[in-house]
Amino acid sequence: MSFIPQDWQPAADELSGKTILVTGASRGIGRALALACAQRGAEVLLLGRDEAALENIYDEITAAKLKTPGLIPLDLNSGDSALYETLAGELTAAGVILDGLVNNASVLGERRALAQTSPQSWQEVLQVNITSVFLLTRALMPLLEAAPSASVILTSSGVGRRGKAYWGAYAVSKFATEGYMQVLAEELGSTSSVRVNSLNPGAVNTRMRRLAYPAEPPGTNPEPSELTDRWIYLLSDASHELNGEALDAQG
Ligand SMILES: NC(=O)c1ccc[n+]([C@@H]2O[C@H](COP(=O)([O-])OP(=O)(O)OC[C@H]3O[C@@H](n4cnc5c(N)ncnc54)[C@H](OP(=O)(O)O)[C@@H]3O)[C@@H](O)[C@H]2O)c1
Repeated sequence: MSFIPQDWQPAADELSGKTILVTGASRGIGRALALACAQRGAEVLLLGRDEAALENIYDEITAAKLKTPGLIPLDLNSGDSALYETLAGELTAAGVILDGLVNNASVLGERRALAQTSPQSWQEVLQVNITSVFLLTRALMPLLEAAPSASVILTSSGVGRRGKAYWGAYAVSKFATEGYMQVLAEELGSTSSVRVNSLNPGAVNTRMRRLAYPAEPPGTNPEPSELTDRWIYLLSDASHELNGEALDAQG
């Protein structure tokens, strides 16, 4: 079992020279992480479905005179593999080599019993939280393999490691995330320079957390920006030996 050293801190230029794609970069953990990666020298590719929100973080990064980010408006609630292949083709044509892919975007879906879960919500949660991860990672693998030591991060959850009533499709999608991580990590382990790990953020003050726990008092949980070093560790060369690990950002 591996851990992220809790006292590890990135150097100011920890991610210098690296290109990192973050999904769900419009808000929450993805937004804070994209900003933190840019602050550590990376060129970030911001993927999300809300173009205005992506432009807002683009402006914040460029105003701070950090590396100009790329914008990738894409709705992950699409199972059309051609969309993902087209994106990979466009990035390849632009000469992009990917040092990191953070599959962060997710939806919570309906917090109710499986018996009451609508098929439409089930489909959306499984599509956004795991099928799009498969499609995007598959399409981008040649760009990741072109880097000397790329890191793929899957975003897990406590309910993806132990099932809980009323967490429905979300919990199932996070179990699938862990399974996907293990299978891919073992497949790539002996043949590829790409490493794959999952990270459970723990409770973090984001819209998703507030939706899941509306009665929780403000200030209960850390802000996303307080935890981004955990992701940066996994994206940095400091973690080059980690592959196939299910990790926790807190505790
Ligand atoms: N916060 C926690 O306590 C916690 C705990 C355990 C795990 N996690 C995991 O951490 C990750 C980040 O969650 P968060 O708390 O930061 O949630 P969040 O604030 O709700 O952010 C989710 C992100 O995913 C994006 N997204 C959702 N559906 C999308 C779609 N169809 N296409 C493209 N992007 C889409 C959202 O974009 P829009 O702005 O367009 O909606 C947003 O950028 C998730 O994988 C979540 O499961 C969070």
